[in-house]
Amino acid sequence: MSGSGEGGLREDLTRRALFLRSMLARPREVGAVWPTSRRAVRDLLDMADLSGARRVLEFGAGTGVYTQGILGRIPPDARLLAFEVDPGLASSVEEKLRDPRLRVICDSAENAEAYMEGGKADVIVSSLPFTTLPPGVRDGVLDLACRVLAPGGVVLVLQYSPAVLPHLRRRFSRVRRRVSPLNLPPAFLYACEDPRDGGGS
Ligand SMILES: C[S@@+](CC[C@H](N)C(=O)[O-])C[C@H]1O[C@@H](n2cnc3c(N)ncnc32)[C@H](O)[C@@H]1O
Repeated sequence: MSGSGEGGLREDLTRRALFLRSMLARPREVGAVWPTSRRAVRDLLDMADLSGARRVLEFGAGTGVYTQGILGRIPPDARLLAFEVDPGLASSVEEKLRDPRLRVICDSAENAEAYMEGGKADVIVSSLPFTTLPPGVRDGVLDLACRVLAPGGVVLVLQYSPAVLPHLRRRFSRVRRRVSPLNLPPAFLYACEDPRDGGGS
């Protein structure tokens, strides 16, 4: 996820320490001890075609491991809005991944619509811990995802438990699933398409 050699390793460790500190301060919002493995990020992003996406949203940027993966797949003129509520993590991602396509927004994913100028998102990538977040936040984010998704768009979700599945099925007509077994812990990956009327709420 970072540069090579000693500098890259130091940078990686610093980011992991920042993540751990955030986890200790707000365990239910962070919901994981380690950032997602690069393998699981790749497995999740492989579930959608990002090469033609014009606008992508990321929910829960954390240390930027998905952010970097998304930037590696979207076109040169696409836009990525990455939401992260922890100011320390948000500024670290912004500093590390300087890219004109990226805007890191230190605000809750629930408020994403306010930053979209009426546009829709072709792909939404979420690693928010839906099982430990308050149900109101989970429902708010999933309903918003249904509202702002462009026709033919995909919502990608990574979780460490399958508990979110009924909430996804209630809102989307099509939910594809796979497991990324080598992540620690194993990750449950979902690709959600075709929001039902009213987003299931
Ligand atoms: C499981 S961590 C995943 C982080 C990162 N994507 C990774 O795997 O390294 C979830 C992240 O979501 C952030 N978060 C929690 N609630 C949020 C919300 N409502 N809006 C945006 N980010 C949120 C947390 O601060 C945390 O960084």
